[in-house]
Amino acid sequence: MPFTSLKPKVKTILANENKSSEERLKEVCELLQSNINYYDWVGFYFANEVERTLHLRAFAGEPTDHTVIPFGKGICGQVAVSNSNFVVPDVKAQDNYIACSIYVKSEIVIPLFKDGKNIGQIDIDSHVVDPFSIEDERFLEWVNEEVAEIL
Ligand code: SME
Repeated sequence: MPFTSLKPKVKTILANENKSSEERLKEVCELLQSNINYYDWVGFYFANEVERTLHLRAFAGEPTDHTVIPFGKGICGQVAVSNSNFVVPDVKAQDNYIACSIYVKSEIVIPLFKDGKNIGQIDIDSHVVDPFSIEDERFLEWVNEEVAEIL
């Protein structure tokens, strides 16, 4: 499903005030994971600024052991400190990488800003090498802006 047709569905999920923000985040993860064929795992991590750790709050795909990630560690931890998108076409080429599954070949992490502050991120793992384009970055930035509205 193209990104343009997913956007109204993301909006509908996030607008549902009968559900908790956790439930709505999980539904967004499930929507993206089930409709974009190269999105094999989708999750949202949020920062604990005091502990300097990221905490997994919602995901779709296989459960991961990495529910808490220190700032600076792995792709996710690096984005917590860089405040920048991180597109990894081939995870084998990364030294500072935390493997969640032997099947993962590539990853994209986009920071989530609330009132200008990097409070978390969306993380996508793919079983395909080099699947992510600038369109993915723009779409996931948009998703994060929409999510920030309900937090
Ligand atoms: N690969 C990530 C860890 C999180 S899992 O992908 C779910 C990283 O290097 O930060």
